[in-house]
Amino acid sequence: MGVKWMSDNILVLAVLGLILRIAEVCDGGITSSYVRNKDLARDMPLDSDVFRVPPVYNAPQQVHITQGDHEGKSVIISWITPDEPGSSTVLYWAENCEVKNRAKGIFLTYKYFNYTSGYIHHCTIDNLEFDTKYYYEVGFGYTTRQFWFRTPPSVGPDVPYTFGLIGDLGQTPDSNITLTHYELNPTKGQTVLFVGDLSYADAYPFHDNGRWDTWGRFIERSAAYQPWITTVGNHELDFAPDLGETKPFKPYTKRFHVPYKVSKSTSPLWYSIKRASAYIIVLSSYSAYGKYTPQYKWLESELPKVNRAETPWLIVIIHCPLYSSYVHHYMEGETMRVMYEKWLVEYKVDVVFAGHVHAYERSERVSNIAYNIVNGLCEPIGDQSAPVYITIGDGGNLEGLVTEMTEPQPSYSAYREASFGHGIFDIKNRTHAFFGWHRNQDGYAVEADSLWLHNRYWKPFREPSVALL
Ligand SMILES: *[C@@H]1O[C@H](CO)[C@@H](O)[C@H](O)[C@H]1NC(C)=O
Ligand SMILES: *[C@@H]1O[C@H](CO)[C@@H](O)[C@H](O)[C@H]1NC(C)=O
Ligand SMILES: *[C@@H]1O[C@H](CO)[C@@H](O)[C@H](O)[C@H]1NC(C)=O
Ligand SMILES: [Fe+2]
Repeated sequence: MGVKWMSDNILVLAVLGLILRIAEVCDGGITSSYVRNKDLARDMPLDSDVFRVPPVYNAPQQVHITQGDHEGKSVIISWITPDEPGSSTVLYWAENCEVKNRAKGIFLTYKYFNYTSGYIHHCTIDNLEFDTKYYYEVGFGYTTRQFWFRTPPSVGPDVPYTFGLIGDLGQTPDSNITLTHYELNPTKGQTVLFVGDLSYADAYPFHDNGRWDTWGRFIERSAAYQPWITTVGNHELDFAPDLGETKPFKPYTKRFHVPYKVSKSTSPLWYSIKRASAYIIVLSSYSAYGKYTPQYKWLESELPKVNRAETPWLIVIIHCPLYSSYVHHYMEGETMRVMYEKWLVEYKVDVVFAGHVHAYERSERVSNIAYNIVNGLCEPIGDQSAPVYITIGDGGNLEGLVTEMTEPQPSYSAYREASFGHGIFDIKNRTHAFFGWHRNQDGYAVEADSLWLHNRYWKPFREPSVALL
């Protein structure tokens, strides 16, 4: 009898388990069935068109810009002259304006193992007019090269603005396709939010920093014309004690200057800017973030400063995702999630963009902040004060895509797919922003996943997901 009782109950338990499992599966969102060719990509060869050096002796190359102040009236222009210092002066003028202005920058060089950089110039131009096209020239005489950019509209709650999202880009043919799709997307991104892992130069023997130079030349066609707001990834660490390179982030911080001081940050690895109707907080997954650390103290004092009446859209960009259901890098963001998620919910962050995982994923609005050691409350729950977490580490670097996912798809995961692509975050006004994910295998206008986001401060109600598959 005992045996029968047991076997009956095992059966019941098994059936129950099956039901629970099915329920769990139904709970999760969409796992796309698209399967990509798994061949690993190689970086584009050194003689590729995208790496071409300007044909003139010592001409500026690797030109890229980023925001230079807190509001968007200033731009940092960076470039490299390979052979000699040349000039650090930028000549710039507003469209339709006769008056040309000059700003004097600085230059620096660095060594990495047996690599010596070219002359890296950084020049901040400021007191620009909002919403104005500017031309600028770097180099002088016959080396002069001309570019342009447009300043953002004045900061305000209903200013439409369009951000592009790119992560983990590298320099393979797939990277080139991602950048091309971003450029040819009919919804024109005005500024790139780059979620870390830039050149992947560290994948080469001795971290061949020549691959930082090729990457700089590759992205120039976008980054010289619109700001790239960058955050660091693990591939920016370039920490190699065996090569005598013990200062983390050396090549990155020499090459990419950011306006960290204007948000009272003490490190270029975390800072904030305002741009149009958005407030963007850049964090570093690879700098200390525990209690009392500089990054922690900065973020703690930064979040209360955000005025949602002025900048309704609060965006955090970071390299390592806090929510990801892929097997690769699983739970790597967990310690930072434990430290910061409470604040993200308290301050109603609209969206957190991350990279690191070479795939795409979008979360539901969930939080997991109730746990206190003894209460057992340690699962994500739906939370309309929580951000949407989007992983967009699918730029196309030489490590390829990650395809293995945890199963079943957890309920916090709304959509996941291992394809290369980029994102567009299109702010319409204080209440509505449209996010679209664009895959490299689709036409330029196609969104494989998309969502209308309702602003958490102005319209804190559940939004219908409009995944199109
Ligand atoms: C990169 O993309 C651009 C624009 O589509 C194209 O002109 C160029 O030939 C591509 N280069 C490589 C090496 O793929
Ligand atoms: C750096 O050292 C490596 C290993 O000895 C060598 O292969 C490489 O060519 C060197 N690079 C430069 C720029 O000297
Ligand atoms: C904000 O934008 C959304 C989407 O375009 C639109 O439906 C809504 O009416 C706009 N709100 C206002 C106040 O204009
Ligand atoms: Fe990474």
